[in-house]
Amino acid sequence: MKIDILTLFPDMFNGVFSESIIKRAIDDKKVEINIINFRDYTLDSHNKVDDTPYGGGCGMVLSCQPIFDCVKSIRTSESKVIMLTPSGKVYKQRMAYDLSKEKHLIILCGHYEGFDERIKSICDMELSIGDYVLTGGEIPAMILIDSITRLIPGVIEEESHLIDSFNDNLLDYPVYTKPQVYEGMEVPSVLLSGDHKKIDEYRESERIRITRENRPDLLEK
Ligand code: ADE
Repeated sequence: MKIDILTLFPDMFNGVFSESIIKRAIDDKKVEINIINFRDYTLDSHNKVDDTPYGGGCGMVLSCQPIFDCVKSIRTSESKVIMLTPSGKVYKQRMAYDLSKEKHLIILCGHYEGFDERIKSICDMELSIGDYVLTGGEIPAMILIDSITRLIPGVIEEESHLIDSFNDNLLDYPVYTKPQVYEGMEVPSVLLSGDHKKIDEYRESERIRITRENRPDLLEK
């Protein structure tokens, strides 16, 4: 998969893709990530990429021209263009699975008061990572790319994402490692029993318990 990130702050991405699983996925050529500064596409003599909003109001709005020209120069019939905005549909694990099957993602990171509305005409989807407002789309882009890349076949063992939280609207079960007792807290005895049927039943009931406690909205689905 190829991922192009359009941003005005390319340096924000320093580091995030050069560690751990994403780095390995890049090294193994499972994913190619390009960071493009869309200011390079502006035709404005002062290098501007934004302007004041029509109708008044605070802040600056990202203009059409640099983003249109940048997207036009990189998109192919296989590209999916994603706009990151707090007004988008809320991003979910299901979407991460669907997007992990795409060949080319183009991710637009906004800043300031947002994008000129007409930029939506060149996007396939508008996504928000949650009900809070960040200073820009860069951190949401990192979240999207991390959650999508780990699902690309061969990046991590398939078994480890089959049991991920959210796959079936249930959160993950609790896990323990050595020692068996830590500061008086014991590992549940069923996990030491060797009885795999009992362990599966325990884990399933823990998933339901934790989901009921932390995310009752998921159980209603
Ligand atoms: N830009 C600012 N806040 C955002 C959010 N919650 N999701 C996506 N993009 C954003």
